[in-house]
Parts: sequence; structure tokens; C-alpha cells
Amino acid sequence: MLRLRWQTPPGWFEVVQSDFVAFLQDHAANERKVSQSALVLASHHPNRIELVDLALAIADEELQHFRQVWEILKARGATLAADAPDPYMKRMFGLMRKHDAQLYLLDRLLLYAVVEARGCERFGLVADGLGDQEPMGAFYRELERSEARHHAHYLRMARAYFPAEVVNERLDEILDAEAEIARTTPFSPALH
Ligand SMILES: [Fe+2]
Ligand SMILES: [Fe+2]
Repeated sequence: MLRLRWQTPPGWFEVVQSDFVAFLQDHAANERKVSQSALVLASHHPNRIELVDLALAIADEELQHFRQVWEILKARGATLAADAPDPYMKRMFGLMRKHDAQLYLLDRLLLYAVVEARGCERFGLVADGLGDQEPMGAFYRELERSEARHHAHYLRMARAYFPAEVVNERLDEILDAEAEIARTTPFSPALH
């Protein structure tokens, strides 16, 4: 698993706990969005068979996560919520070089890989905070592992389609930028 360059401090989970339903609602929205993003990625690269296979598998798993979080919300008498602005993702998307199709694909794969790594880190913090003995803690532990796999899949695709030095150089830049974005985004009861 790739090392993120800024570690989320314990204060983040305290904010999450202050309104756990709001966190679940944001989490549900995130799972839906990453499922959609994987499908759109597949639709933009119909001739890259391995990428389509992988993106569909990820979209499927994220949709399953969305459904699981939805069931948790329902059990708590809560509903889904309207999408709130996500300043972290907005700034992350701002890093993408969309003017060139090849660079855009590379940036997309690496950004998705790093965003999955951040999700993995934060789900792990939720699991730590709730405790693995609690059903909800165990659920988040399972998600932590799943997002680690997605992270590895996106990174593997980047390495399959681009030379190692190109991947490493851009990954280095994105990791630095992501650390700064994560560090300077105020905490809220949300994944980002
Ligand atoms: Fe997920
Ligand atoms: Fe994921």
C-alpha cells in the first residue's frame, strides 16, 4: 500500500463521531460517485479491455458499498442526503490535465489510486475508533481492505499503460499535492 504523505490526525474521527449519520450520508454519496466514475472511465476507454474489466468490477463493488451504507442509514431511520460540496475532491479534480487524452488517462488513474488510498486510511481510522468487535467497526475494516485493493488496481493500470518513470514522476507530484489538499481541508463529519 502506497504511503500517503500526510496522516489524518485523531481529531478527524472525533468530528466524524460528532454526527455519525451525516458521515454515513456523505459516505454513501462517495460510494455512489466512485462507482459512477469507474463506469465513466470504462466508457471513455472502450478498447482497453483490461481497464474496462477492472473498472466494471470496481464500479460493482462500490455500488455494493453504497447499498450497504444505505441499509445502515435505513436501519437508523435516516435517509440519503443531497450531495454536499466536497472541497477535497474539487481540488483533486483540479489537478487533472484534461487537455491531452493520454495525460488525462494517467492523471485519472493516479488520482483515483490516491483517493482510494485516502479512503482506505480514513475507513481504517473509523474501524480503529469504533473497534473491530463492533459490527460497524468490522464493516469499516472490511471497507478499508476493499479500498486498498481498488487503490492497487488503479495503480496497476497506470503502470500497465505508461512507462515507470512517467508514472513515478507524476505520482510523486500528486502525492505531494494530495497531502497539502488533505491537510488544508477543514474536517467535517464527512469522508473528506
Ligand atoms: Fe467503496
Ligand atoms: Fe474504492
